[in-house]
Amino acid sequence: MRIVLGVGGGIAAYKVASLLRLFTEAGHHVTVIPTEAATRFVGTATWEALSGNPVSNSVFDDVHQVNHVRLGHEADLVVIAPATADLLAKAATGQAGDLLTNTLLMAHGPVLFAPAMHTEMWQHAATRANVETLRGRGAAVLEPATGRLTGADSGPGRLPEPEVIFDAAMALVQGQSDYQLPLAGKTVTISAGGTREPLDPVRFLGNRSSGKQGVALAVAARNAGATVRLLAAHMEVPPPAGVEVVQVETALQLREAAMAAAADSDVVIMSAAVADFRPAEVSNTKIKKRDDTADPVITLVRNPDILQELVERRNIAGAGEGQQLIVGFAAETGDSQGDVRAYAEAKLQRKGCDLLVVNHVGTDKVFGQDTNSVVILSRSGSEPQEAAGTKTEVSAAIISRIGFELNHVSPRA
Ligand code: CTP
Repeated sequence: MRIVLGVGGGIAAYKVASLLRLFTEAGHHVTVIPTEAATRFVGTATWEALSGNPVSNSVFDDVHQVNHVRLGHEADLVVIAPATADLLAKAATGQAGDLLTNTLLMAHGPVLFAPAMHTEMWQHAATRANVETLRGRGAAVLEPATGRLTGADSGPGRLPEPEVIFDAAMALVQGQSDYQLPLAGKTVTISAGGTREPLDPVRFLGNRSSGKQGVALAVAARNAGATVRLLAAHMEVPPPAGVEVVQVETALQLREAAMAAAADSDVVIMSAAVADFRPAEVSNTKIKKRDDTADPVITLVRNPDILQELVERRNIAGAGEGQQLIVGFAAETGDSQGDVRAYAEAKLQRKGCDLLVVNHVGTDKVFGQDTNSVVILSRSGSEPQEAAGTKTEVSAAIISRIGFELNHVSPRA
């Protein structure tokens, strides 16, 4: 496929290098047309090297090839990223001052705009009108992602992640002009990793969770168009880019963060391994080994069940918030009293969550591994779904199931 990738003059231009990579790795021929302003952020040489094609933004280069007509005509797809407020305005009013705007006027195939700008610019009546005009003419304009902007503030205006733009572009070419990423406009909170329950300033009770599954879920949710909040307990892997991270240590801290985040979340996924118990007393100073004292005894007290509290809170909140989807995880071994599925079904009923992702654990399975095999149980009564593969693949299956439940299953609670 021949793609024209128009790059606008915004700081997010550097992220478009990754988008270009996704297109070329998928075997597409890409011509990059940066605006004059875009070349102040990322130089022409970068685009030439990454695309393997000559790059120009002037209608007066290679005039004999009539590029200002040819490029738009030949393109199977035009993608504009970042689509700045200025570029949206020029496209909406049909200006033709440079090679990119000429190409937009000559485009025969689908056109996708991936906006990025400050929140106030995005929300300005002028930009709203330009976006409506472009959509009215059949162009696809993605919603920008929400999160930290270039300055200290945050809000809608971030360039959607390259994978999100790539997915939307492919869907557009396949004729899905009303294509919406499954979690577009949704806020998803995901807890990940293992909590640590302190005994004293240097010791804690912990568990073997690596956080890999939670991080893979965060990536999959982000790629599905969601605004993602990752509540990160102890993890062995770094959090991914493009998600908001809230660091927590203990179950009590995680509970506080989860309750706060749940208030405006469409989906809450509890994939963290939360300690069921914590030491009843935490010493402020290091507990010393002394010969004259008896063997120490650690008394444990129960931690609150965060998942269950989230469900109760959601159910009390009632109709307006009743749409929130809550997903639990269960690690089960099965024993002489019951098999994995029976324990999992009972846990789904007991916890009251909407989906329960069940891991079958043995000594060598799940913790820290890159692959996983799960069954997704649903309280809506739909068939259990199996998913196996890398944690990335399993996460993609879980996230698409969540998208399905959100978009097709009637209100919960
Ligand atoms: N969970 C939680 N708060 C806790 C413990 C667990 O929110 N204090 C959540 C986990 O994040 C996960 C699910 O509950 O989504 C897992 O429950 P699990 O701890 O495995 O089950 P238990 O209720 O402890 O049942 P059992 O010990 O009988 O397996």
